[in-house]
Amino acid sequence: MKEFIQKLPKAELHLHIEGSLEPEMMFALAQRNQVSLPYQSVEEVRQAYQFHNLQSFLDIYYAGAAVLQTEQDFYDLTWAYLEKSAAQHVRHTEIFFDPQTHTDRGIAFETVVNGITQALEDAKSQLNLTSYLILCFLRHLSAEAAMQTLEQALPHRDKIIAVGLDSSEVGHPPNKFKAVFDRAGAEGFLTVAHAGEEGPPEYIWEALDLLKVSRVDHGVRAIEDEQLMARLAEEQIPLTVCPLSNVRLCVFQEMKDHNLKKLLDRGLCVTINSDDPSYFGGYMEENFIETQAGLDLSHTDLLQLCRNAFNASFLSEPEIQKHLREIDTLESELETS
Ligand code: ADE
Ligand code: ZN
Repeated sequence: MKEFIQKLPKAELHLHIEGSLEPEMMFALAQRNQVSLPYQSVEEVRQAYQFHNLQSFLDIYYAGAAVLQTEQDFYDLTWAYLEKSAAQHVRHTEIFFDPQTHTDRGIAFETVVNGITQALEDAKSQLNLTSYLILCFLRHLSAEAAMQTLEQALPHRDKIIAVGLDSSEVGHPPNKFKAVFDRAGAEGFLTVAHAGEEGPPEYIWEALDLLKVSRVDHGVRAIEDEQLMARLAEEQIPLTVCPLSNVRLCVFQEMKDHNLKKLLDRGLCVTINSDDPSYFGGYMEENFIETQAGLDLSHTDLLQLCRNAFNASFLSEPEIQKHLREIDTLESELETS
């Protein structure tokens, strides 16, 4: 099973690039940029990663991002994620970045976007790994701040395919950002949003109806609302589920309690993703391995999850078909073995 998972061609659709900052790189960048950290060692950093909810993680995650200062830092961060992902048979990735985490510290929007984009371009030529970039607004900040961030992004439209919404969910419903998302849509961006991670099903309805999202990030609390489940199934609206993240942030107590298999069995377009791999104990492969083990997923389930991810991606139809054929080939090898 492990070997099968390793070989599966994967697409990742829910990955915060700042959440791929490994403690080793955090220390190296802190030294390079003369930033002081509240930790004495890499081990101490890892020990601090004990979370009881989303906010307890976000506090540490935003503090860690302070070591990122130069275009080279953003390049190195992104390149490290891409190299690891390519080694795990990730063929395509759609990466979130949080510009406000950096611009609010005085880092230029260009520094962030150019460093990330250069690494994405190099991955296409050197690692055969394609990607898109998604700008996320921090929902604990104001709608006005989000609108200013959108305006900063306009000259970089060619590098950014969509906008999203992340950070502290409860108390910051999607409706707060309707005007920003309307403007983003009019400017030609696709839209996605975190909804139903800790927040109620109503937030998922709002993401769909007010923010016009193409996908829902997390969305696991949809299971509490039958009408919503029917709509997600009927319209095949993808959910970018992050199993290790959900367990680490106590959305589910243990992997065996996760509802991913239930969502899949109800015909929803569920995908597996890593969210913030450095903080939650694994990249795509580890997420697949632990979810398979916890929920006793079959080969058929795993193939479906991979097909769902390419179908849910923003790739063109011919590109999607090319990846699906690779999955078909793997499936026929499985049947003949
Ligand atoms: N930012 C990084 N990871 C996140 C998550 N899981 N939920 C909301 N915001 C985030
Ligand atoms: Zn996320």
